[in-house]
Amino acid sequence: MVKVLFVCLGNICRSPVAEGVFKDLIQKHGLEDKIDCDSAGTMGWHAGQAPDHRAIKSALNHGIALIHKGREITTADLDDFDHIVVMDEKNFKDVHALYYKVKQIPPPAEKLFLMRDYDPNVKGVFEVPDPYYGSEKDFEEVFQIVERSGKELLGHLIEKYKLVKEKEL
Ligand code: 4NP
Repeated sequence: MVKVLFVCLGNICRSPVAEGVFKDLIQKHGLEDKIDCDSAGTMGWHAGQAPDHRAIKSALNHGIALIHKGREITTADLDDFDHIVVMDEKNFKDVHALYYKVKQIPPPAEKLFLMRDYDPNVKGVFEVPDPYYGSEKDFEEVFQIVERSGKELLGHLIEKYKLVKEKEL
């Protein structure tokens, strides 16, 4: 099983949407037995909470129900997940520092990624912008970014791990 963890700051806006979108893609391709994903925050402020209502609404507008309870990333996650995919540079630094603190070595090249490493539309912007203090439009932008990046990420994993899709979109 290939395991992917999406990480943002609070785990109530960006990473639960990324998780919901990616789970939907996994299901649509019949890859449930081969890829799994979850999400977490670098901070535990919203542990146990449902995603932000604006994140829930924007995902539902695209037919995706978000079923997740906020949680803080743990040291066990660093081993449990093959790919840790973060939303912005601060998340990257924080997860990198956690990894270093626990293991005394930097994360291997194939462990920690930025979501927009996979964004085919990226033009010099490497972050999924934090929509927490933003508007509905910002949540929609997050959805669009994580959807198109998620599709690329899935294609990358299928190729890397030679996974066979059970269904085509
Ligand atoms: P997220 O957004 O990292 O995409 O979940 C945020 C959620 C909560 C806060 C900041 C960003 N906060 O300051 O509580």
